[in-house]
Amino acid sequence: MIILSIETSCDDTCVALIEANERKRSRIKVLSNLVSSQVKIHQKYGGVYPFLAKRAHQKNLPFLFKKAKKQAKNPNIDLIAVTTGPGLEPCLWVGVNFAKDLAKELKLPILPINHIEAHIFTDWAISSVKHQTLDKIFPAIYLIVSGGHTQLILIRDFGEYKILGETRDDAAGECFDKIGRMLGLNYPGGPAIEKQAAKIQNIKDKMQISLPRPMIHQKNYDFSFSGLKTAALYNYKSQKPEVRKSKEYIQAMCAETQQAIIDVLLHKTLRAVRDYRVKTIILGGGVTANKALRKQFKGKIKKQLPNIKCFLPDTEYSTDNALMVAITAYHHWLRGTKRNWKQVSVNANLSIEHEI
Ligand code: KG4
Ligand code: ZN
Repeated sequence: MIILSIETSCDDTCVALIEANERKRSRIKVLSNLVSSQVKIHQKYGGVYPFLAKRAHQKNLPFLFKKAKKQAKNPNIDLIAVTTGPGLEPCLWVGVNFAKDLAKELKLPILPINHIEAHIFTDWAISSVKHQTLDKIFPAIYLIVSGGHTQLILIRDFGEYKILGETRDDAAGECFDKIGRMLGLNYPGGPAIEKQAAKIQNIKDKMQISLPRPMIHQKNYDFSFSGLKTAALYNYKSQKPEVRKSKEYIQAMCAETQQAIIDVLLHKTLRAVRDYRVKTIILGGGVTANKALRKQFKGKIKKQLPNIKCFLPDTEYSTDNALMVAITAYHHWLRGTKRNWKQVSVNANLSIEHEI
């Protein structure tokens, strides 16, 4: 079967086409997987500006769809999958309306997909394509860390999710982005901070900057990153202008910001893994593209929890893409989740714990 998927929940316009074999479950062929990034548009605002994002999606989506079809050699589509939430409402509507019009025109079924669930599937399913190991991974702990979300989720089985904890204010990626902006770095802040932090060779170069690790010792699985951002701001304001602008200060602040975020994420995730005695850790969302985070998660897990499997998406799949939407739709399809295009709507605050 051929699945077309559409993802427009934030600032990336994404379209994918996959061919899936209903009998050989793990055989998924990626026919096309296109992403049109809007980073340049939002760079001057230091964050995603929903109105502009919506306009860019409207412009890009028909073009991307045409290109994907051409790349896939014009296959006969059997199913349309589209992200319906969570995300920016005006942006989500662009994808949903496009999917609905197409479903109506081609008389095709349409499957609404939760963006967070799609992130969960990215590595799990992509690994399954490579290694064919879809089963025996549950229960699992899933950590999503992106620009809009920071959640620790217990996955008991496919479709059985419980949010153990989440951020009470800013998402981890948002914290990277805001501190990056404060330091005058390019948007998005995450990769820019990673680049600056990597330049520090010696711990002494850290200029004694010490930021808090918010909520790290609290006996819950919640996070808070706005305090970290404020502490960084106080430190920044307390410095002389010539120090603030120096490359030594910027690099030191980036290294400490990155480490503070990694420490909290790692500590809380490993505690959840122990408390719930799970078999697997799955990491997803844009922040998991961070090399220091990946290295430290892998290292700590290998040392402290050698029997736990850790699924980390390839960097190209950590950020938003439509392949993850297509693969999630395929697994719903196998399990008989079918919906009529007329019922499909948008929910900007859609929770992973609830049915769409
Ligand atoms: O998942 P994503 O592409 O979009 C959503 O927010 O859904 O995540 C984007 C976030 C941004 O905040 C960006 O700064 C962060 O992921 N990010 C990173 C890195 N690459 C992207 N954060 C830290 N290190 C990175 N290498
Ligand atoms: Zn995302």
